[in-house]
Amino acid sequence: MLTRLNEIEQEINTFPVSDKNNLEEFRLKFISRKGLISQLFDEFKELDKAQKAAFGKKLNEVKHLAESKYEETKTKLDELEAQKKEDIDLTLPARKFSVGTEHLLTKTLNDFCSIFREIGFKIAEGPEVEDEYYNFDALNTPDWHPSRDIQDTYYIDNKLNDGKRYLLRTHTSPIQARTMLNEKPPIRIIAPGRAYRNEAVTVKNYFTFIQVEGLYIDKNVSMRDLKSVLNYFVKRYYGNDIVTRLRPSFFPFTEPSAELDITCFLCKGKGCKACKGTGWIELGGCGMVDPNVFRGVGYDPKEYSGYAFGLGIERIAMMKYGISDIRLFYQNDVRFLDQF
Ligand code: PHE
Repeated sequence: MLTRLNEIEQEINTFPVSDKNNLEEFRLKFISRKGLISQLFDEFKELDKAQKAAFGKKLNEVKHLAESKYEETKTKLDELEAQKKEDIDLTLPARKFSVGTEHLLTKTLNDFCSIFREIGFKIAEGPEVEDEYYNFDALNTPDWHPSRDIQDTYYIDNKLNDGKRYLLRTHTSPIQARTMLNEKPPIRIIAPGRAYRNEAVTVKNYFTFIQVEGLYIDKNVSMRDLKSVLNYFVKRYYGNDIVTRLRPSFFPFTEPSAELDITCFLCKGKGCKACKGTGWIELGGCGMVDPNVFRGVGYDPKEYSGYAFGLGIERIAMMKYGISDIRLFYQNDVRFLDQF
């Protein structure tokens, strides 16, 4: 046994271990469960006492020799590998680090709200699933009005059996009615939120959009206040070269009513595809709160007057950033979203 031990000792010392592959061969040959050393230990068990005393020490020495050669080489090879990994080429261009950004609609909405908050408007909110009363009745929109048409409005099956009709709000104007019922004038709010309309999807219209309602009620509020606040917003947001115009229109809940147009931001009024050659772009509706709405919420129309407006956030962003298709906001294509 002694000669075998000496031979194995020799072999351990001379076995080449220059990389991970032959180190593994080394481990299999000597240290593994089926390796030579383990075989020697099996044989050692069979020996008698005297022989055990003669070979035991040497056997342990050989075992330790193999183990420490293995451990030392492994540490060395690991260190070498780590060093190689740290060998960075500093001239390589940096990898792109992508961070999430605010969605453009969120950003536009926040910018809008902060301009109005600066001049004293509070934020108000209301539910997206709305009671027909607030969406239509309270806003002087009688039963026969075409905007109630099932083709425009998404009605919701009422499983509550409470006798009410529910719908996805078609505009943010119901928040006007809710606020008037809960508060006393003077009222100065903006109410941002999502609205839904069952419309054909085109580059300009989507079945859902974000609208911001504005409402100011006090004594002696006039159309001049309306025009000046809208003008103020447009100039703050787009710059001084953009002008506004109010075009006569109709809404059941305002009288008189108007459409707010601004200079087309893309062609600066010269006329282009986006504004169909007119030089103007429509941002939304507005007007003086109809006396019938006041009566419905218990305000005296002789004592109070007020204005309201409802502007589309998508339109506002499209004009500011030169976006020609409303659907881009909702496709969530990172190549689009990343640009802002
Ligand atoms: N709610 C109207 C719409 O969605 C806009 C509007 C709001 C008009 C307030 C007048 C006053 O078209």
